[in-house]
Amino acid sequence: MDYFEYRRGVLHVENVPVAEIAQAVGTPAYIYSERTLREHYDKLQHAFAQINPLVCYSVKSCSNLSILRLLAEMGSGFDIVSGGELYRVLKAGGSADKCFYAGAGKTDDEIRYALGEGIFMFNIESEAELENIGRIASEMGKEARCALRVNPDIDPKTHAYTSTGKKETKFGVDIERAENVLLKYRDLPGVSLSGIHLHIGSPIFETKPYVEAIGKALKLIERMKSHGIVIDTLDFGGGYAASYETGTYTQIEDYAEAIVPLLKDKGLKLVMEPGRFISANAGLLLSRVQYVKQGGQKSFVILDTGMHHLIRPPLYDSFHFIWPAEPGEEMTPPLRGVDVPLEGLQKADVVGPICETGDCLAKDRPLPPVQRGDLMAIFTAGAYGMAMASQYNSQPRPAEVLVSHENFRIIRRRESYEDLVRGEE
Ligand code: LLP
Repeated sequence: MDYFEYRRGVLHVENVPVAEIAQAVGTPAYIYSERTLREHYDKLQHAFAQINPLVCYSVKSCSNLSILRLLAEMGSGFDIVSGGELYRVLKAGGSADKCFYAGAGKTDDEIRYALGEGIFMFNIESEAELENIGRIASEMGKEARCALRVNPDIDPKTHAYTSTGKKETKFGVDIERAENVLLKYRDLPGVSLSGIHLHIGSPIFETKPYVEAIGKALKLIERMKSHGIVIDTLDFGGGYAASYETGTYTQIEDYAEAIVPLLKDKGLKLVMEPGRFISANAGLLLSRVQYVKQGGQKSFVILDTGMHHLIRPPLYDSFHFIWPAEPGEEMTPPLRGVDVPLEGLQKADVVGPICETGDCLAKDRPLPPVQRGDLMAIFTAGAYGMAMASQYNSQPRPAEVLVSHENFRIIRRRESYEDLVRGEE
């Protein structure tokens, strides 16, 4: 699933030892593997080939221009949620006519910008937003293609913060009201309401929630047909899992096996919006141990990175495998997980420099002995890592590096102290 592997006790990204990157670029650094990104995109297309969906990479998961460019060149469309994301896509050479624009709070300026650039479709989150888009499109003499985001009231069994498809959510409209909304707005000037959008949460580790949600959406589309309303596009969202722990996630082929038969030969234009499936395993966060200390019975490994660069563990309690980058052959991990079957591990909390107790990337994690100066790799950090990084505590954000075979290049330079105060008086 990725090209981050230990060779003779040394972590490599593709064919580059990570220590070489640390030497050249410093730490902390997000390091991405081009081959992994490409293979994930290809794998998806292959798995879903029978229904040939437009793959719209979810920009929010990892939005570096070089990564967007790589995907645009492979033919990807984009799931965007802001004017800023559209700007990135266009700057990276992507085209607006392959963009689906979701998000509950689109402003007038953002809507105008997207219409001006020829956005393919808006995913509509509320009736008020639909009316507003209709008004703005009419003023601009345009017709906005829109898909109604529908909440099928399904529990995706994921963290409450990333669960979006139940009735009580700020996203979309609930499925019982969807029919009325589609009827009410069938002739709304400035709008062609011809799609349905689903995104029920992420990550979703099972196939069943997708099957249920798509089943409900298809029934709705059938019902609309009987009213003479043609829905020609179904965007069935993102949320396909990444491999955070060895052996614990659903393979993309399994999602495809469940989803493809439902959508085959339905005559619909199909769209999917994977983010983490493409980017999560394609990136790691490389850090250097600053100090090792005892606090009562506890050991702490203190890194030069933390919640400001990777908020997922404190925010969602999420697991990221963390391991030294040069542990030697005898401490090479045979798998990524909480329980690594090796002798001589010691439990420690892996923490960052931020002045909050919550700045903890792993609690009581069994690790090989580590010392000041060691490099540590935090795996599966390509999605919602750098994209959610902040400058909290006035810490500059890390560099980003893209590896391709034997080569690597900086795709975002490390921030400086000057960057921290840019724009301030
Ligand atoms: N489509 C829509 C409308 C979305 O809201 C999202 C993610 C996606 C697609 C892509 O989901 P993915 O395939 O990447 O799971 N920060 C959280 C995840 C928030 C997801 C927000 N929406 C995390 O770190 O897990």
